[in-house]
Amino acid sequence: MKKNYEKQIDSLLAKMSLQEKIGQLNQPETPTADNEEAFMDLVRKGLVGSVLMSVGATAGNDPQGSISVDFYNRIQKTAIEESPNGIPVLFGRDVIHGHKTVFPIPLAMTASFNEELIEQSYRDIAQEASNESVHWTFTPMLDLCHDPRWGRIIEGTGEDPYLGSVVAKAVVKGLQGENVGESDRILACAKHYIGYGASEGGRDYHRTEISDYTLFNYYLPAFKGAIDAGALTVMSAFNDISGQPITSSRRYLTEILRDKLGFQGLVVADYDAVCQLERQGVAESEADCASMALNAGIDLDMHDFCYLNELESLVENGKVSMETIDTAVKRVLSVKFEAGLFDTPYCVPKDYDKAQHRLHSREMAAESMVLLKNENHLLPLQKSADIALVGPFATERRTLLGSWMLDGKERETPNLLETLRGRTSGTVESSNGTDLSLDRSLRWMTHADVIVLALGEKWTDTGESRAVSTASIPNSQIELIRRAKATGKKIVGVLFCGRPVVIEEIADLCDALIYAWHSGSEAANAVCDLLFGDSVPSGRLPVTLLRSSNHIPLYYNVTSSGRPVNCYYGENPGECYVDSLPTPYYPFGYGLSYTEFAYGDICCNTPQLRLEDLKNGQKFRFEIDLHNVGDFDAKETVQLYIHDRAASMMRPLRELKAFQKVFVKRGETCRVVLELGFEDLGFYLPSGEYTVEAGKFDIYIGENCLTPRKTEISVL
Ligand code: GLC
Repeated sequence: MKKNYEKQIDSLLAKMSLQEKIGQLNQPETPTADNEEAFMDLVRKGLVGSVLMSVGATAGNDPQGSISVDFYNRIQKTAIEESPNGIPVLFGRDVIHGHKTVFPIPLAMTASFNEELIEQSYRDIAQEASNESVHWTFTPMLDLCHDPRWGRIIEGTGEDPYLGSVVAKAVVKGLQGENVGESDRILACAKHYIGYGASEGGRDYHRTEISDYTLFNYYLPAFKGAIDAGALTVMSAFNDISGQPITSSRRYLTEILRDKLGFQGLVVADYDAVCQLERQGVAESEADCASMALNAGIDLDMHDFCYLNELESLVENGKVSMETIDTAVKRVLSVKFEAGLFDTPYCVPKDYDKAQHRLHSREMAAESMVLLKNENHLLPLQKSADIALVGPFATERRTLLGSWMLDGKERETPNLLETLRGRTSGTVESSNGTDLSLDRSLRWMTHADVIVLALGEKWTDTGESRAVSTASIPNSQIELIRRAKATGKKIVGVLFCGRPVVIEEIADLCDALIYAWHSGSEAANAVCDLLFGDSVPSGRLPVTLLRSSNHIPLYYNVTSSGRPVNCYYGENPGECYVDSLPTPYYPFGYGLSYTEFAYGDICCNTPQLRLEDLKNGQKFRFEIDLHNVGDFDAKETVQLYIHDRAASMMRPLRELKAFQKVFVKRGETCRVVLELGFEDLGFYLPSGEYTVEAGKFDIYIGENCLTPRKTEISVL
């Protein structure tokens, strides 16, 4: 429930000097020993509004050891007892997918298509982080991305706007709960607003070219989802859109984010982004940077001290109004009140159920992993199986935790070898695989029932400033699969990857294949749960898996060309490229189970509705029977896609608009009900106006975006 702190804020504002007001807009990073005194002096003067809890490292990639709660309480005590108005400091940290208990990377959690589990994960994350002085985390990252070369695709929710909005809501609710002022909740931050995932060539920080039509229909929905769920902060993106840096754009930061989407919280600039306006060629001085960013709608300046150094003189020479300053300060103070900082400014660590958080992380990991292939039901394995475990990740720990991990501990992360050995009564022989000579592989593998290959990409090849020119696992690993294949044994591939790597060669060679992502503290246990059938795979791809990096960009929610050619949907693909087949290897929404599901026919109550009825809340209702005709109790994600056949603008051939993940016991049937309302059947015009237009829609309901199962509805 949003309370109104207007009186307290106005009363504070009336007492604050211009310098103190500007101090609230300043977010330095945690001091090191050599600058701690100078830092504390700024705190005493009320010139530190917030602290970025990260010391000097490439944020999110180099763990800073443990957080000293005493140190942050000391900062807080200094601010409250010694600064002119005793305003508490807001502590923010990149708790992106876990704190001490590390959960799967966000792209992996998205693959679970399980918003309840995602919310539960972030509930645990908030509990752990708030227990170590963290008030605010810089997540969910909502950058829709069509380019797996971009290292930061791992932090987001993949290629679909609707799925992104569902995940955004789950993360915000998990972190903030109903009252973010409760001691075990923390502030969420929807980032990076906006369009960062469209960086040209997948090269981090590079320019983007995004039309308003694309912006409103692809990139904004996830941010709308976060804001509708109550996100109180947004982080601006480093990139520009068509030559306009986000950080200095009033249109994006105020007219669209606030006036159109109704965002009322605070906007924090990304790291040094205010001063970077000079490099981007739109400012000639740091003073220009500060005035442009503040006037555009950036409230809090991260790390570069540009606001603290420049704003006072800008107000004095009339380039920035006191009203603009006050507006930004009010937003910062309002978020601090909402977060409970004035009521409970100090961190008092409490016990929480670590074992339960580990179990939740394991459950989340198992539901995030995607079974891509399972020839002749090779999986699940017998627990008595003799296994040859081969590959560079057989004994790996750190990579399983993924990038953007600051507080998890490698030593608390079981690896696959030790976990396998603990789970099978058979033998588990292993080699790290990379130096296998053929004779050696034959000798020690001969008695194995199956070869399990632990492959993937290093966590250091993912995350910020970690773009790659080809989104693939190393050739040495492909060679390893070939050598294993040469033994004639059955091969199970386990891919510990962050980004969606190109998959054709790997999938062709393996008999069974699990996309295990970088799945956190319990990744190895979750893999074994799936390998031995203690859990049944239920992950579904939030991104398309391509045959080759040469096919980038290739994504499912594509429009149709005028010619009868569409490589994603296999329409005359030979006319896409003459030298390669560019159809997706595994499409969006794809994933297998150990059981088989059969879908009944789609029943639609009223295949026609008037636009007026839709506006008045009536919905199209679809029912479909889902039969579990296999041998395992399992979960299936029933997905509903629409295709607006003819509209005033071209619409994608498929758009995910609803899904339900349901558990069905073997031999049983579940009736799944999905609905479409006014808010699902429309799109945004280039003007930003939302419209639902009369006409026919194809409705597809099934197991992934390529399902042929469809019906037709009409909006009259
Ligand atoms: C980084 C990232 C951003 C992160 C921030 C603070 O550069 O772009 O996602 O939250 O700085 O570490």
